[in-house]
Amino acid sequence: MPVKALFKPFRLGALELPTRVVMAPMTRSFSPGGVPDSKVVEYYRRRAAAGVGLIITEGTTVGHKASNGYPNVPHFYGEAALAGWKKVVDAVHAEGGKIVPQLWHVGSVRRIGTEPDASVPGYGPTEKLKDGQVVVHGMTKDDIQDVIAAFAQAARDAQSIGMDGVEIHGAHGYLVDQFFWEGSNQRTDEYGGSLANRSRFAIELVEAVRAAVGEGFPIIFRFSQWKQQDYTARLVQTPQALGEFLKPLSDAGVDIFHCSTRRFWEPEFDGSQLNLAGWTRQLTGKPTITVGSVGLDGEFLQFMVNTDKIAQPASLEKLLERLNNDEFDLVAVGRALLVDPDWAQKVRDGREQDILPFSREALMTLV
Ligand SMILES: Cc1cc2nc3c(=O)[nH]c(=O)nc-3n(C[C@H](O)[C@H](O)[C@H](O)COP(=O)(O)O)c2cc1C
Repeated sequence: MPVKALFKPFRLGALELPTRVVMAPMTRSFSPGGVPDSKVVEYYRRRAAAGVGLIITEGTTVGHKASNGYPNVPHFYGEAALAGWKKVVDAVHAEGGKIVPQLWHVGSVRRIGTEPDASVPGYGPTEKLKDGQVVVHGMTKDDIQDVIAAFAQAARDAQSIGMDGVEIHGAHGYLVDQFFWEGSNQRTDEYGGSLANRSRFAIELVEAVRAAVGEGFPIIFRFSQWKQQDYTARLVQTPQALGEFLKPLSDAGVDIFHCSTRRFWEPEFDGSQLNLAGWTRQLTGKPTITVGSVGLDGEFLQFMVNTDKIAQPASLEKLLERLNNDEFDLVAVGRALLVDPDWAQKVRDGREQDILPFSREALMTLV
């Protein structure tokens, strides 16, 4: 099957992507002090130069005291970090690529002792105590508004340094998803209870981001059924429930949904071959990004459990078939692009034999 479907431009309003290949957001933990430096600039520049149409950066934390959960994760606030990101933006644009930051708040995943202020516990929908000590602070309504304001400010900053949009991290069991998921949200106020109530935080957040950036600045929203706390968790069980979940987010201002799955070819519901991105596109009428083991024969969880495992390059046949059928609009590639910056170029040129395999070891050493 010809690969050209992956290399057609994509247009949404003012956003014009040269190809359909999207770099999935991947935490790299190589920004000491939260500031992306010249290594980070070069890392993204190389992928843009080799045919990635849209780069979604690694998760980058919004300006709230509990947003960060891990060492050396870049900030998306403060002069030094934003100046670092501006260099990344300019380098990617010089190669003809586009780039959006993934705006991130880890919520209750944060532990006391984590930078930047070690005394700050995790913040989440529901308070958690351990041995009498607060390990997760249950967010008040003021806290909710503070976090929303931090996302809105980050989006404004993204726009002012020339980013091509923003992605809101609403997936994988981090703060926004902790509100969505009943397993982590036991609130009794209007932010808890029904899925509509559990979605209120995300909806208000998207509305605030939209108000901050105005019309025409793309907002991508990443969501997932799976959680890092429970890989089998599901927010919704039926297409109808998925539609009810997505509609208010779509109405609030989401332009593109990024539907995070671990294996893109898996049908989301019985009775249809459509994957999560396929259903989302059909139900919302908005463009979608698919993701999950594109170009590799092993999914990413295996590498956490079995560190010796190597994923070999895999055929793109099934992906291209679905892309050609307009099941989704864009294709995010994670590990394959991490390990091989020239992945897209090699695919385009039919040099599959030169594509590098993925392993944990490669992950630790690459740039
Ligand atoms: C090293 C690594 C870091 C990741 N960090 C993030 C992240 O910061 N934000 C996010 O939404 N997903 C993150 N992910 C998930 C990826 O975006 C992607 O969804 C996942 O790897 C599946 O795609 P793949 O099979 O092509 O690798 C990460 C994955 C990897 C392997």
